[in-house]
Amino acid sequence: MLEADRPSEPEAPLIRVEPPGPRSAALLGRARARLWGELSYESMPFVLARKWGSVLEDVDGNRYIDMVTGWGSTNVGACHPDVVEPVVDALRAYGVEITDYVCSEPAVALAEKLAEIAPGGLSRVVPEISGTESVETAIKFMRVRTGRPLILTFLGQYHGETQAALAVGSQEPEGSRYVRESVGGYIHVPYPHPYRCPFHRDPRACDGVCVIDYVREQVLRYLTPPDRIAGVMIEPVAGEAGVLIPPAPFWEALTALCREHGWLLCADEVQTGFGRTGRMFGVEHWGVEPDLMCLANGLSGGVMPIGATLGTEAVMGELHAYAGGTFAWTPPACVAALRGIEVIEREGLLERAVELERIAHEVLDPLVDRYEHVGDVRIKGLYIAVEFVEERERKTPAVDLARRVHAACVRRGLANIYDDGMWVVRWQPALTMPEEMLRQAGAIFEEAVAEVCGGR
Ligand SMILES: Cc1ncc(COP(=O)(O)O)c(C=O)c1O
Repeated sequence: MLEADRPSEPEAPLIRVEPPGPRSAALLGRARARLWGELSYESMPFVLARKWGSVLEDVDGNRYIDMVTGWGSTNVGACHPDVVEPVVDALRAYGVEITDYVCSEPAVALAEKLAEIAPGGLSRVVPEISGTESVETAIKFMRVRTGRPLILTFLGQYHGETQAALAVGSQEPEGSRYVRESVGGYIHVPYPHPYRCPFHRDPRACDGVCVIDYVREQVLRYLTPPDRIAGVMIEPVAGEAGVLIPPAPFWEALTALCREHGWLLCADEVQTGFGRTGRMFGVEHWGVEPDLMCLANGLSGGVMPIGATLGTEAVMGELHAYAGGTFAWTPPACVAALRGIEVIEREGLLERAVELERIAHEVLDPLVDRYEHVGDVRIKGLYIAVEFVEERERKTPAVDLARRVHAACVRRGLANIYDDGMWVVRWQPALTMPEEMLRQAGAIFEEAVAEVCGGR
């Protein structure tokens, strides 16, 4: 279906009753009584009824502009008909199948397609259910292939919630309370972040190489010989940490270090993959060719759970590392992934993301000059963050302001990503979001900032 033929999205935002409306409130009460988990319903005080493209509708009839996109999963827009219809057909034809025992054509075609679009020599594919699983598999391959125990990783990264994923990650201290002492083998170093340079360089001068200097001068000097390190796990842009974008010289220094010591480089592209940053994969911005790559969210076509771990022939080859699972790559999930990639290519969504990125800069960059409490705006493609500070010079994190700005947005029908305790509000719009809607989101966001942080 051509973009022009697609049914247009309904009007949004549209707030009929302040969220949570009565139906949402009742359902959220029931949810809190039964669902276990780190529920974020204070941040998202409504219950979803349905979605179109970039619009969420709640059970009280309110409509929101969707900046959450199922945590960066509905990159082609929610419920894209060219993905949904073939998936429904595949469900009728195949239902569930165990792909590593009974093969089906969609699985073969997807493996071939991923090998075709992946950067460098990533030619082998492990089917997974989720991003977390793909991280587990990548860690396993790094260790089994090299025979070395340690993984070098970066502070603030997020990789999932299983034991190894929490151990390689470090989003917040509580996440690893019962993990650090039992799951070992990880060395965490600061993530390159010029705005808050971990080595207190001037933000304009910090090129991220200070982090690699630290690895060379401190970690390898005092902590471990290099031949105990199997590889490096990195998010090309650190999303949950607040969309931290490493400068180009950092990547040159990191890849040189990996080559020097035979460390395998694994890019966790679970969120940066499939156009999120304006390229098919985030590492393409810096010409980096990783040895392993983790994929999920955007791979789903916005429709089915699926993940993948990609590796070079040299890393994966015929190596046995025990990976996969019953529900990994059901044929309908493979169809969703194939059709999602097809939509990205056919509708020129990578170019579109770059065009929308320009608008995001236009609407958000000026906030830094207009409002004392807006400390930084970071944008890579459609991976977008606004950071709030109490005070410009000291950059004291303004958690309460960020939370209140987010709440003021939701009341106006703009659904951001806001993690409790963070001082950053994020947007991850679909690559198909209408330009006018993105501008409207910018206007709503500024209204909310003005309400909470005071006038211009
Ligand atoms: C960078 C990154 N890695 C791994 C994961 C875990 O993926 P999943 O939630 O599909 O298990 C996420 C989830 O958002 C992520 O952002």
